[in-house]
Amino acid sequence: MMALSQDDMKRAVAQAAIAHVPTDCIVGVGTGSTANFFIDELAKIKGKIRGAVASSEASAKRLQGHGIEVVSLNDAGDIPVYVDGADEITRHMHMVKGGGGALTREKIVAAASKKFVCVCDASKLVDVLGKFPLPIEVIPMARSYIAREVVKLGGQPKLREGFTTDNGNVILDVHGLSIMNPVELETALNQLPGVVTNGLFARRGADVLLLGTPEGVKTLTA
Ligand code: 5RP
Repeated sequence: MMALSQDDMKRAVAQAAIAHVPTDCIVGVGTGSTANFFIDELAKIKGKIRGAVASSEASAKRLQGHGIEVVSLNDAGDIPVYVDGADEITRHMHMVKGGGGALTREKIVAAASKKFVCVCDASKLVDVLGKFPLPIEVIPMARSYIAREVVKLGGQPKLREGFTTDNGNVILDVHGLSIMNPVELETALNQLPGVVTNGLFARRGADVLLLGTPEGVKTLTA
């Protein structure tokens, strides 16, 4: 049998996530390559949903390209399910997200959704978060101040060069962290004036993880 590629695993979890989408609902949709596979799967059942709330301009464009109506979060009402990838996830369902820079809108749509279904290939499952640099979205004028504060917390911040978020802000990617208490660090970073959001999704983690492995899709729950 041919070995499954990373994309095969992403496609498999995206297909599995469709089972979590109730009929006639508005779906929360994440950002990134795995979320893109999910959008492509969603297109196959678009007659069964009312529309989608997108966590980025890129996802909105892809949804619209498939003829799926994109609804603003303010008009969406209750969102039963949010489906998105992660850069790292633990068995406690805590995540680092924001590799694609969409962390703020992702966190908002996730918070407004009843269930968070995380879709990942097996490489994303880790024991301790932090090997993947932690993204922080920062108001531009606060960039240097936040960078100095992050150094005090033991991290090495690096400006994501040439990148502006959908909200007009910059991203600091923080290297060198070994995040033993993600809830505490998420809260501490969010207290710094100038931080819009950080990429730790621990206070509101995933409810279900669909993990793509060479043996097939594994389901983990919180
Ligand atoms: C984007 C994200 C993505 O969910 C994360 O980067 C994972 O992306 P991919 O599915 O391409 O590995 O947080 O901001």
